[in-house]
Amino acid sequence: MSTEVSYPPGPRGLPVIGNTVELSRDIFAFFEELRDEYGRIASYEVFGTDSCMVAHPDAIQQVLLDDHEAFEKGEVLTRNLADAMGEGLFVSGGEQWQSQRTQVQPAFYRDRLNTYVSEMRATAEETVKQWHNGRVVDVNDTMTATTMDVLGRTLFGVDVTENPIVSEASDAILARFDTSRFWSFLPDRLPTPTNRRYRQKLDELQQFVDTLAQQRRQQQPENRGDDLLSILVGFVEASDLTVEEFRDNMVTFLFAGHETTALGLTYTLLCLAQHPDEQATLRSEVDSVCDGSVTAGDLPELERMEHVIDEALRLYPPVYMFFREATRDVTLQGYDIPAGTTLVLPQWAVHRDPEWWEDPGAFRPDRFAGESDHPEYAYFPFGGGPRHCIGMRFARMEMKTVLATIISEYSFELASDPEPDLIASTNLKPDEPIKIELQEW
Ligand code: HEM
Repeated sequence: MSTEVSYPPGPRGLPVIGNTVELSRDIFAFFEELRDEYGRIASYEVFGTDSCMVAHPDAIQQVLLDDHEAFEKGEVLTRNLADAMGEGLFVSGGEQWQSQRTQVQPAFYRDRLNTYVSEMRATAEETVKQWHNGRVVDVNDTMTATTMDVLGRTLFGVDVTENPIVSEASDAILARFDTSRFWSFLPDRLPTPTNRRYRQKLDELQQFVDTLAQQRRQQQPENRGDDLLSILVGFVEASDLTVEEFRDNMVTFLFAGHETTALGLTYTLLCLAQHPDEQATLRSEVDSVCDGSVTAGDLPELERMEHVIDEALRLYPPVYMFFREATRDVTLQGYDIPAGTTLVLPQWAVHRDPEWWEDPGAFRPDRFAGESDHPEYAYFPFGGGPRHCIGMRFARMEMKTVLATIISEYSFELASDPEPDLIASTNLKPDEPIKIELQEW
């Protein structure tokens, strides 16, 4: 067998703009076509930058886990997000990231998170209380508001309706980095309306976080409450985190945790609305597991619900792709990848690859029941390896709590397009409202 290696194959676009046009026309189709025409490791060029799609599960595992130290987040991401969260977990690298991850991880242990379930349930109950038989609900809007409320209570320990800066800043940051809009590629210093609003809201959010932190410091630790801000303030006092790391992580949790979870819920409700039989199955699971309202202890027993969420996140991964940059020359699946190459890991194309998923477009929660028959890294909605999503358990607990609260009161029918247009924004977003019509059981 030949040991010769070569650069991955791929389309060659026009000089300078490379494959940029095809990519921006339909990014989802672009990666699926690249995979089908050139293979699961394929190269392309965007604005003169050599990029490589990594869509083979073994290679994804190599990048995220086995050889993770040979890859970093990449200069563009680091530079773009530096002001807002450069010292935080999502952006930092090397030893700074390693030590922070070790410090902050305990705040996301199950026992800690269990204390948030009552807040998550109370928020979901407040949402459902406003509903009635026959009402048509805009799912994405409602889940965006509900998850914002949950983050306000669990992250900052505040009511977001009284502190609108939290949601205003979240919106302004997401708008600034909305990769489906050309302005996200313009430098921060250009005084566009989006940039100005971003700067202003980021400053206000940082001041808000500083003020809350000062207030907590004036309280005895036992009186501070369980929110993440209080826990992180404790780490600063113990000199385990710097003040900048603390502040950037608060912004990071808001940026990384809000829209993603809202979308996870939105797509799960979309899939359920298309499958009324599955709603009935979940309803009887919730009835048999929960004695009244759902509690933290009930969540691990909601197994079918877990599989439904897994399958919705396969079909509609809120994070539909992410990047790495090779820090040295590496070989992936026999191909030679030079140092400095930008790698894209596209959940969308891997989660829908017929090589690993039979009838990939079909919603089948059973795929996740029992022994799995797909390679581990054919499914990575929360990333993988040491930098996997620190908020994964938080998000799963929240999704289950909110879904259990809804499903115990209502069944629902889809009242909008069953195949909504999707848009490759910072996250995978519906480009039109997803609506359900409620029916009391
Ligand atoms: C359904 C909801 C969510 C999805 C799909 C999701 C997805 C992801 C993915 C794919 C990554 C890896 C990115 C990479 O390796 O480049 C990630 C990282 C991260 N996520 Fe999430 N996330 C979700 C919810 C949350 C929540 C609720 C929080 C916080 C409360 C959070 C905080 C973070 C942080 C801090 C990182 C960076 C971790 C590190 O590099 O050490 N995420 N997330």
